[in-house]
Amino acid sequence: TEEKTEEAKVLRVGTSADYAPFEYVDTAKSDEIIGFDIDLANLIAERLGYTLQFTNTDFNSLIPGLQADKFDFVIAGMTPTEDRDEVVDFSVPYYETEQYLVTPKDSNISSLEDLKGKVVGA
Ligand code: ARG
Repeated sequence: TEEKTEEAKVLRVGTSADYAPFEYVDTAKSDEIIGFDIDLANLIAERLGYTLQFTNTDFNSLIPGLQADKFDFVIAGMTPTEDRDEVVDFSVPYYETEQYLVTPKDSNISSLEDLKGKVVGA
């Protein structure tokens, strides 16, 4: 591994910001790309002393972008498939979950259906 100096340690990251809550564009606020994947990547990068430069592109352009050396890595909620595995390397999984929304025992909400008409826009 090469010696890192004080110079900017920037990694180019490809994502496809159309996959809330993992990566999406914060249209209400700033047109910034936000979401779980963005936060996670930034946290890891920060710990390692890197800054990330995100590029938002079509999901199907992400692997070609890696192959063309446009990105150092991609984070886009991407799941391994046989085809993808042949052309890129996947990390260990960073998101496998058993997390639930929780309601009181006597709640009248037992499914999303129960929210119909109770939430603006539902
Ligand atoms: N997990 C699915 C896949 O790998 C969907 C990912 C879509 N991600 C996105 N940023 N649009 O194909």
